[in-house]
Amino acid sequence: MIDWLAPAVPLFKAAHIVALVIWCGGLLALPLMLTRHDPNISIEDYRVVRNASHLTYTMCVTPAAVIAVIAGTWLIFLREVYVPWLFAKLAFVAMLVMAHGWIGHTLARIGEAPDEHTPPRPYIPIALVLLPMLMILTLVLAKPTLAWVVLPDWLTEPRSGQLLFDTPSR
Ligand code: HEM
Repeated sequence: MIDWLAPAVPLFKAAHIVALVIWCGGLLALPLMLTRHDPNISIEDYRVVRNASHLTYTMCVTPAAVIAVIAGTWLIFLREVYVPWLFAKLAFVAMLVMAHGWIGHTLARIGEAPDEHTPPRPYIPIALVLLPMLMILTLVLAKPTLAWVVLPDWLTEPRSGQLLFDTPSR
């Protein structure tokens, strides 16, 4: 661990958890909001729900996702967790990122061609984000050893590589 950064671990963890709560909350709320993009509701209601979902996605959920990923990436190196459960967790995080992308894509299509849009049913997107969320929480809280998973050395041990530039000595 980089010694002088050790006291920052609780801060990174707090930032990680606050951001991922907002991110995951948004990934559950936005599919429900997408179902309200029904061309049959009044134009005024449509405008309100369109604005609300657009702002939620761009100003709240996406920044939270970025902060969660950046803080999580720092935590990998600060806590030196080069272990199988972390890599399993990252596979499930990739599913959340794909769900995030699908929501953004759907919002963009609604904006470009609102009349051609049929509101999606929320059940499948919600199930597809709930499953990885539950798996991630199980993995980070139980931290199973998953000893049967064989990983290459370069994934589990720091390479002690030399940077191309000088770094301050401790
Ligand atoms: C690229 C994305 C992510 C990365 C790189 C990442 C990485 C990490 C790391 C390295 C830790 C510290 C583990 C330790 O102290 O032993 C951590 C903690 C945690 N992560 Fe993530 N994470 C990511 C996304 C998520 C997501 C999406 C969730 C939830 C759905 C999540 C939930 C948690 C929780 C609850 C903790 C605290 C666990 C504890 O302290 O026992 N993470 N994360």
